[in-house]
Amino acid sequence: MHNYDLLEEFKKKFGDAKGAKTYFAPGRVNLIGEHIDYNGGYVFPCALTIGTFAVARKREDDKIHLFSLNFAEDGVYETTLGKLYQKEDNAWTNYPKGIIYTLCQGGYNIKQGMDILYYGTIPNSSGLSSSASIEVLTGYICMDLFGLDYDMPDLALICQHAENHYNGVNCGIMDQFSIAMGKKKCALYLNTNTMEYSYVEMNMKDTAFVIMNTNKKRGLSDSKYNERRDECEQALRTLQTKYCIDNLCQLKEDDWEEALSLLSSDLLRKRVKHVVTENKRTYLALEALRRADISEFGRLMNDSHDSLRDDYEVTGRELDTLVATAREQEGVLGARMTGAGFGGCSIALVNRNKIDEMIEKVSSVYLEKIGYSADFYVVEVGGGPQIL
Ligand code: GLA
Repeated sequence: MHNYDLLEEFKKKFGDAKGAKTYFAPGRVNLIGEHIDYNGGYVFPCALTIGTFAVARKREDDKIHLFSLNFAEDGVYETTLGKLYQKEDNAWTNYPKGIIYTLCQGGYNIKQGMDILYYGTIPNSSGLSSSASIEVLTGYICMDLFGLDYDMPDLALICQHAENHYNGVNCGIMDQFSIAMGKKKCALYLNTNTMEYSYVEMNMKDTAFVIMNTNKKRGLSDSKYNERRDECEQALRTLQTKYCIDNLCQLKEDDWEEALSLLSSDLLRKRVKHVVTENKRTYLALEALRRADISEFGRLMNDSHDSLRDDYEVTGRELDTLVATAREQEGVLGARMTGAGFGGCSIALVNRNKIDEMIEKVSSVYLEKIGYSADFYVVEVGGGPQIL
């Protein structure tokens, strides 16, 4: 990873750095509670110390200049406040543009353009929310530069709106919320139905979370993400003919097995089973972490992965290989995929003194079975967006 002097890079691109400030927003990893943030369930993510940096300032005219050190070969992208349309070939710039567009549409007072240089330390397309990190960061920059008056939960909702309507990915609120609301050393327990949340100190005893990146690239828009969401909505509509529920996670424990018989296919039954059981696991994981029962947390992670593999069907060979191999290693208490799935990252809960050994073994098995390497990072839990 390059260690850029971001202000120097900004000067190189934009002539000088007068009035420019440096900002940061984290990435996130979800510990448990997968594919239920669009079903009104609980999620349990935390912010990371890796994320996106930016140097930004207001301009006197209405031009928007966007540059990323990660895509330096693309050069500076230029547009104006009046021309913030989504274009497929504008790749990463659709994320910041989507935020500025959404804010302007929402009546926020942005009358001047901006120069923004970005630099991300999250591997792209890894499922650690590099795009939500850029979105939240851009919204945070606008808030600071133009004195806009939203709070961080509102910022998360604005970013989700941009992702849904500008970029066409029907994601839930988890990524944007966990990034906007990140807190050092804490996981965030969020009820995505009521938006009530609490922070839980990550007292992991002598264990740590290790992210295992499949390096299989995927984007949410080309994954089956929207398809899964549609399946859940279809199941919900059927269940609403009998049960008084607004989302699948409101199905009562006593009801859900009987409810499955209303559904027209095994496929929908499996989807609903995952949603309901994952929601319960997330609640149990909260309780386990609160009483520092790390082995129970690991067990729940294993069950979560198995459910995502067998019932929700969003894992795939690369994620399953990493998870199964990790679980075979000494000192591993649990492992599961994290994020949307279909590639991206998995996460293992490992005794600290066994981490090196685990990484060595898993990486050699993965290389042999899959044909390219996986990457590993020990999770460091970071805070939310900030001015540096
Ligand atoms: C992606 C989405 C989130 C969430 C996860 C799966 O990260 O952006 O809203 O649905 O997948 O849990």
